[in-house]
Amino acid sequence: MSSIDYDPMDVALDVAPYDVWRRMRDEAPVYRNDRLGFYALSRYDDVATALRDTTTYSSAHGNVLEFLSEREMQSGMMILTDPPAHTRLRSQVARVFTVRRTSALEADVAAICDELLERWTPGEDFDLVQDFGALVPSMVMTRLLGVPEEDREPVRKIIDTMFHVLPDVGMFNDVAGAAMGELDRYLAGLLARRAADPGDDLLSGLVRSDLTRRECVEFAMLLATAGTETVGRLLGWAAVLLDQHPDQRAALAADPSLVPAAVEELLRYEGPSPVQGRWTKQPVTLHGTTIPAGSKVLLLTSSAGRDERKYAEADRFDVRRSIDHHVSFGYGVHFCLGAALARLESRVALTKMLAHHPDWVVDHERSVRAHTSTVRGWEHVLVH
Ligand code: HEM
Repeated sequence: MSSIDYDPMDVALDVAPYDVWRRMRDEAPVYRNDRLGFYALSRYDDVATALRDTTTYSSAHGNVLEFLSEREMQSGMMILTDPPAHTRLRSQVARVFTVRRTSALEADVAAICDELLERWTPGEDFDLVQDFGALVPSMVMTRLLGVPEEDREPVRKIIDTMFHVLPDVGMFNDVAGAAMGELDRYLAGLLARRAADPGDDLLSGLVRSDLTRRECVEFAMLLATAGTETVGRLLGWAAVLLDQHPDQRAALAADPSLVPAAVEELLRYEGPSPVQGRWTKQPVTLHGTTIPAGSKVLLLTSSAGRDERKYAEADRFDVRRSIDHHVSFGYGVHFCLGAALARLESRVALTKMLAHHPDWVVDHERSVRAHTSTVRGWEHVLVH
């Protein structure tokens, strides 16, 4: 039996990690990579249990492999904190980022999709990621944050630049770093204006909370990063997978009430956020192997989505599948705060794509995968 080499940064493997993930689930449920110094859990049950156990698995030391270390991140971003600090941050922002605020965005999402899809003439080239999927969430984000209309397009461009990936350098590069600095300064300025003259937008709500001004900026930054690239990648997967399954696409076009279940299947089948990093605060024993305290552990949420122990015929894509639970939005205290908005955006965008041009054909030669350490998906999906 050959040993398993799982490297989450391996671009070739990232294209199709399914066999390696299966071998990890079957042969090495507590996988150890000595070269890169991490453990990985890949079965649904183990990943779900670990995500809920913040006493053992800490988020405060980083959540991506490059950043995980003995040192705590000292970040005010709640995704990089543990209870009780996390509990305080999350309860404050949950009062402001409400279901009502999310639902109120539906008409905006629909209008944005219509505006973008008008530029897609069936039969002619269109990039369903760059010209649509990647734009919808950042355009929605500027509205969610309450960015004034005249600033929305420049701010959207700054948000997009934060995801700039440099070959051989990756996503943590000077261009992306400068864009983050720019957005941070812009949001700090806007918050100061809202403090002086509050409205009913999200930033005004944050200013009224018990959070410090810096915590408000960091939360807005977290929304801008966590809430844009992920949705864009999911829509890229939708374009590719439905092109590969034209019968399922036709069923969805004929009956849009199937779309919400299709979104869950897309999340299970090709979760855009496949790996959640953690740092063990105490030893933990699973399947006879002890992971020592102070270890880097990767929780493979996308492998969990393919676990046959949980999902029958897990490698079959089926928009009619009934899914009782998946971990593609995480689980436990860090469960994706924007899940309702992500579902809304994906449902509306997919419904609009199907209504606009239900027979799109993907040009695989010219479509390009994206490779970053936090998301899995497509950079360009060319269709006609
Ligand atoms: C398809 C789209 C999305 C996917 C797959 C996704 C996935 C995830 C996952 C896996 C986590 C948990 C991370 C962890 O446990 O370390 C998470 C957390 C989070 N997500 Fe999402 N997300 C999506 C969209 C969004 C959107 C649209 C927003 C905001 C508008 C958002 C905001 C957040 C925030 C703030 C957290 C941190 C929650 C906490 O630490 O308590 N996400 N997301």
